[in-house]
Amino acid sequence: MSDRRTIEVTVNGVRHTREVETRLTLGDFLRHELGLTGTHIGCEHGVCGACTIHLDGAAARSCILFAVQAHGCEITTVEGLAKSDGTLHAVQQAFRDHHGLQCGFCTPGMQMTITAFLAENSSPSEKEVREAISGNLCRCTGYQGIVAAALDAAQKLRGA
Ligand code: FES
Ligand code: FES
Repeated sequence: MSDRRTIEVTVNGVRHTREVETRLTLGDFLRHELGLTGTHIGCEHGVCGACTIHLDGAAARSCILFAVQAHGCEITTVEGLAKSDGTLHAVQQAFRDHHGLQCGFCTPGMQMTITAFLAENSSPSEKEVREAISGNLCRCTGYQGIVAAALDAAQKLRGA
């Protein structure tokens, strides 16, 4: 028996009203209902960080939230970071400049974690950046480029 509810969410500035099954995760809602496949799904139990989005401005794991829990909330996904003219967010540009990605699977979650972190701490130390991304797993980069990108983005955002 399916249990369905109507939810209203604002995603990347666009309001959506959808009827969803109560068991649908927020990550699957974003990917399958809204077509926002930039949010990646890895472990599906809150460990890898690939599915990280912003929920009312805070970083959150969309694989362990139900879509119905986001009713009435503002969500930002990685698709919402760049400007509408295609100009990359400072964190995205820094990933590009510092080779902060290889396969790219972890990248959206990393960028959502780092953008939320830098909004709270605009002048972090390297240790603080490493702690901030400690819940986001990357199998490729060794993290060096990601940390360098976060520190560079922090500096650029401070100057902006
Ligand atoms: S897919 Fe959500 S934390 Fe891994
Ligand atoms: S770039 Fe491949 S998992 Fe991070």
